[in-house]
Amino acid sequence: ENELETSRLLRDWYRIHKRELPWRESSDPYIIWISEIILQQTRVVQGMDYFLRFTERFPDVASLASAEEDEVLKYWQGLGYYSRARNLHAAAKDIMKRFDGIFPGRYEDVISLKGIGEYTAAAIVSFVWNQPYPVVDGNVFRVLSRLFAVDTPIDTPRGKKAFTELAGLVMDPRYAGQHNQAIMELGALQCVPQNPDCEACPLKERCAAYGTGDVQTYPVKQKK
Ligand code: ADE
Repeated sequence: ENELETSRLLRDWYRIHKRELPWRESSDPYIIWISEIILQQTRVVQGMDYFLRFTERFPDVASLASAEEDEVLKYWQGLGYYSRARNLHAAAKDIMKRFDGIFPGRYEDVISLKGIGEYTAAAIVSFVWNQPYPVVDGNVFRVLSRLFAVDTPIDTPRGKKAFTELAGLVMDPRYAGQHNQAIMELGALQCVPQNPDCEACPLKERCAAYGTGDVQTYPVKQKK
């Protein structure tokens, strides 16, 4: 039905328009994990060099776990939010201990690791194993709030819940990984915060905000 077609349109758009990024060549959960932690608070252009240097020096869980924390932090120097690097290091040691060095494949195990929240856990298990967990980040909030003209403020627990539900409804579970990457990429490249070029959007015919000329109204925020 309608949601499956929306997901199809997203994935078709993604195949054509996606950026070629080094972590997108990988199906190694360790590599996806490192990339998502870097990209949490860092832009793709800035994060790229850090990602390449970090994964060259620490190519797997074991190499990261056995490093000294000072060296891990050295590879993070300049990125900020150093707790990210400390959490990566602690989680790598934890994976050695609890999972024999094998990155876990169950969502509950993944989210139990230090520094991994709902977004990162969903990104890892969907990108790597196609498990049907929807990703919900700022880009996804924006796309969904416009597509369905959702007035619930995104920066509230109620908003978080509403958008997580909606994200699950539009995701085709057969193609969870591709769908999740597609909706994030649409938010990053097409459904941008300011002056999006809606004429070029694959979802314009089904976008509620576009239909009423209200794209700039969404997403609604509460806190000022
Ligand atoms: N931002 C967060 N995750 C990303 C990814 N996998 N690719 C590009 N940008 C991102």
